Amino acid sequence: MDAKIDIRALRKTFKSLPVVDGIDLAVAPGEFVAIVGPSGCGKSTLMKLLAGFEHPDSGAVAIDGVPVTRPSPNAIVISQHGSVFPWLTVRENLMFGLSGKDDAVKRATADHYAEVVGLKGFEKAHPHELSGGMLKRVEIARALAVKPDILLMDEPFSALDALTGLKMRNELLRILREERHTVILITHDVEEALYLADRVVVLSPRPTTIRSVFAVAQPHPRKVSEPALQEMKDAILTQLGL
Ligand SMILES: Nc1ncnc2c1ncn2[C@@H]1O[C@H](COP(=O)(O)OP(=O)(O)O)[C@@H](O)[C@H]1O
Ligand SMILES: [Mg+2]
Repeated sequence: MDAKIDIRALRKTFKSLPVVDGIDLAVAPGEFVAIVGPSGCGKSTLMKLLAGFEHPDSGAVAIDGVPVTRPSPNAIVISQHGSVFPWLTVRENLMFGLSGKDDAVKRATADHYAEVVGLKGFEKAHPHELSGGMLKRVEIARALAVKPDILLMDEPFSALDALTGLKMRNELLRILREERHTVILITHDVEEALYLADRVVVLSPRPTTIRSVFAVAQPHPRKVSEPALQEMKDAILTQLGL
């Protein structure tokens, strides 16, 4: 099958600081790839290269065979830092990124995705009236509403408390069952990676490159406490030097 995302010999240096040192990875359509790596190794830089926010010094990223040169509505980034507009309601935030002129259509799409992420009844609320977990839901809904092929998630759940994080991961899996997005998730949480992903890519310290790739074949819902997954977790932590 042709790759949805094809990363070839990707390199990036900031001034004299080499950050990404030759990454090759092909992600299949509908695949969920988690990327783990030490803090500061270049994960967010890699994500920015995939999203077209940064340009590589050499190598390339292609989506559906087309080189990425700038941000595209086909690949939406959900980052650790919230990007919800505080002056807009939930509905207005969800409508913001939608193209087209028909407000009624946009509103229906916005309300549909508010419901999908469990925010029904909060369409008219402003961000300051919502909890951290609800704000994260707004962000995910806003990303889903534009129907991107690809979700690029950079530590999206790291600011949430453990219980809310757990709920959000299950929500994400449920949504992905219905709308088959291709997902790249950056996380520092190895258990989160093993709970969600089809493959876990382990990065080296900066300048980063791929140290190893683990395929996770277990069906969902998974129990990370299961011996096979615990073994994989230990192997990944060893790769991370822990
Ligand atoms: N725009 C930039 N200009 C200069 N250095 C940067 C820039 N972005 C990131 N860096 C540097 O690149 C390295 C990797 O950063 P980052 O990709 O954010 O790491 P991670 O997400 O893995 O923690 C860090 O040393 C950081 O200071
Ligand atoms: Mg980062």
